[in-house]
Amino acid sequence: MPEIIDGNLIAKQIHAELKAKLEKFGGKRKPCVAFIRVGEDPASVSYVKKKARVAQEIGIDSRLHLLPESVSQGELENIIDTLNADDCVDAILIQAPLPKHLSEREAFNRVRPDKDVDGFSCANLGLLCQEDSSAFVACTPAGILEMIKRSGVETSGKRAVIIGRSIIVGKPLALLLSKRGVDATVTVCHSKSENLGQVCSQADILIAAVGRPATVTADMVKEGACVIDVGINRVPCASTKTGYKLVGDVDFEQVAPKCGKITPVPGGVGPMTVAMLMKNTVAAYERHMPESASK
Ligand code: GUN
Repeated sequence: MPEIIDGNLIAKQIHAELKAKLEKFGGKRKPCVAFIRVGEDPASVSYVKKKARVAQEIGIDSRLHLLPESVSQGELENIIDTLNADDCVDAILIQAPLPKHLSEREAFNRVRPDKDVDGFSCANLGLLCQEDSSAFVACTPAGILEMIKRSGVETSGKRAVIIGRSIIVGKPLALLLSKRGVDATVTVCHSKSENLGQVCSQADILIAAVGRPATVTADMVKEGACVIDVGINRVPCASTKTGYKLVGDVDFEQVAPKCGKITPVPGGVGPMTVAMLMKNTVAAYERHMPESASK
């Protein structure tokens, strides 16, 4: 059987490292992350709650700006501008997806680059592309790389196949895995890719970020591959209290016996995304409070 990469365990180690770091700082104020959530999408409600809870455990303050589904682009941007100008706010996170009438791209680009802990602005994506270590890197890709590294998965010269080309996962992950020092050979697949199964079956590291259950089946996976499942899909389930259960994009039962390592859902990539948000928030705080960081 494969090694199950325990995202909860790795995330907890990172939380402990960040907590210890903050305790040493003794800054005049705590780090602060501001969340902007638009509407009541149940998954977004649950993610933002989780992020705020972990922030508190580590010693990071958080604020929640809850906007109605009907909010205009201008109103959203006014809130972003206010948070950009607030010296007590180190980090700003606009929970995606936004309602269809809003431009995510314009909202992401409005966030001051030194507070853009999601790394979705063109400034930070550009820095990542230039392999500048000062870039804030999107939390899910950063979390995937961290869990790959901490689990001893070799990347140099290896073939990585990413299914999905979003700004949130696929695109920044391709830049991250192909950068110098990580050195994977990266292929990005998407809905128009031909021979998807055949391309995936070449992968030493296969990352599924599609948002559709059972997209990756056993025939698409090379024997001994490392499989990273980014999907968090709610499927109806009569035997749970909530009436649904969470599954990834990978058919875990079928695929796991073929893998060297695999991430579970839940408890794989999800907690790593939160841990990297905390890491980026602490890094933003260090930039804003250099006198604390040097202690
Ligand atoms: N929605 C799904 N993943 C993310 C993420 O990493 N950041 C934000 N802001 N929204 C998301």
